[in-house]
Amino acid sequence: MSKLLSAVKVGPYEFSHRVVLAPLTRMRAEQGAKPGPLMAEYYAQRTSAGGFLISEATIAAPDGNGYLGAPGLYDDSQIAGWKQVTDAVHAKGGRIFLQLYHAGRQSNSQLQPGGGQPVAPSAVLHGGVAYTEAGWVPNTPSRALTLPEIAGLVESFRTAAVRGKEAGFDGVELHAANGYLFDQFLQDGSNKRTDLYGGSFENRTRFLMEVTRAIIPVWGSERVAVRLGPSGTWGDMSDSDPEGLFTYVAGELAKLNLAYLHLIEPRVLGNVDDDSKDPNPVAAQLIRQHYNGVIIAAGGFKGDTAEAILQAGNADLVAFGRDFIANPDLPERLRLKLPLNPYDRATFFGGTDVGYTDYPFHGRNAAAA
Ligand SMILES: Cc1cc2nc3c(=O)[nH]c(=O)nc-3n(C[C@H](O)[C@H](O)[C@H](O)COP(=O)(O)O)c2cc1C
Repeated sequence: MSKLLSAVKVGPYEFSHRVVLAPLTRMRAEQGAKPGPLMAEYYAQRTSAGGFLISEATIAAPDGNGYLGAPGLYDDSQIAGWKQVTDAVHAKGGRIFLQLYHAGRQSNSQLQPGGGQPVAPSAVLHGGVAYTEAGWVPNTPSRALTLPEIAGLVESFRTAAVRGKEAGFDGVELHAANGYLFDQFLQDGSNKRTDLYGGSFENRTRFLMEVTRAIIPVWGSERVAVRLGPSGTWGDMSDSDPEGLFTYVAGELAKLNLAYLHLIEPRVLGNVDDDSKDPNPVAAQLIRQHYNGVIIAAGGFKGDTAEAILQAGNADLVAFGRDFIANPDLPERLRLKLPLNPYDRATFFGGTDVGYTDYPFHGRNAAAA
């Protein structure tokens, strides 16, 4: 019997299956980083009764974006748009967590208030790109955050989490993977600080723990989650002891009774396969030994390999990214073992309904869904 399609409890919620919509930046928000009806339709299409969805990375502070078209919750004006999304998901019997993020050094001054420099734990150059009015442009060299600014960001995340509650979300996931601000604090390739936020594992984990602890009183620990990318190198990331670091972080998070810990396998580099890495899911297997709560595994899973990791006990749910982009009815397709639509990378980021809400459902077209 399929474990992937069996019920599971996550925090206070009972889900009818374990096929999760991974957080996916699609850059279809309207002016002012506000979700509109198109986004509501996209999420509704990917909702199944009893299913679990995680929102795309949502900007938690005005200086926290790296992608024009990404949605925010750093301002009250962004709440109503998200309410359309959560209402649409709830109307179909699903649940949705809000993924909060801050890009840190993965940004360009064109996206910054007043055209300033992006902020990061340390001024360590990152060679990647941001998306602005001018298209994909190189990241602007960042500057190191001051201590009062770090405290300010903790408060920004807390207030964004409060707005998420007003917007009708069912919980919050902090995006501490893929080389964004939390990850920049965690890994020592990007964190060169010599104060309380740099050096030891404890110090580098401090910002993530402070934000997590700030959000717990808002939501209750069982509705708060964290996403990590152990050994993730997306965004020029590196660490001198990734295994030591991420098992430490998992051990600290295990003390908080969170909804779940979400782990990305290193075989996927951000949004592309990394063939140089172990083709097996190694991250969840390692972290499972240090984390006894619910684990969501992500990164390169298909129906059979998702079933295998659940059967092995190394994860409790599996999140699907690219296949869920192209298959709005992915849980049903996996249940019926139907062929999957191929995804079109050219329409992943930004644009219209094309490559967004027009992927066909099995046996009917998208418009009829
Ligand atoms: C278009 C695209 C956008 C993504 N945006 C996010 C994001 O906003 N937050 C996040 O944590 N991961 C993001 N990811 C990573 C996915 O959540 C997931 O970890 C990755 O696609 C691997 O899963 P898959 O092999 O099932 O696609 C993105 C991936 C893709 C393809």
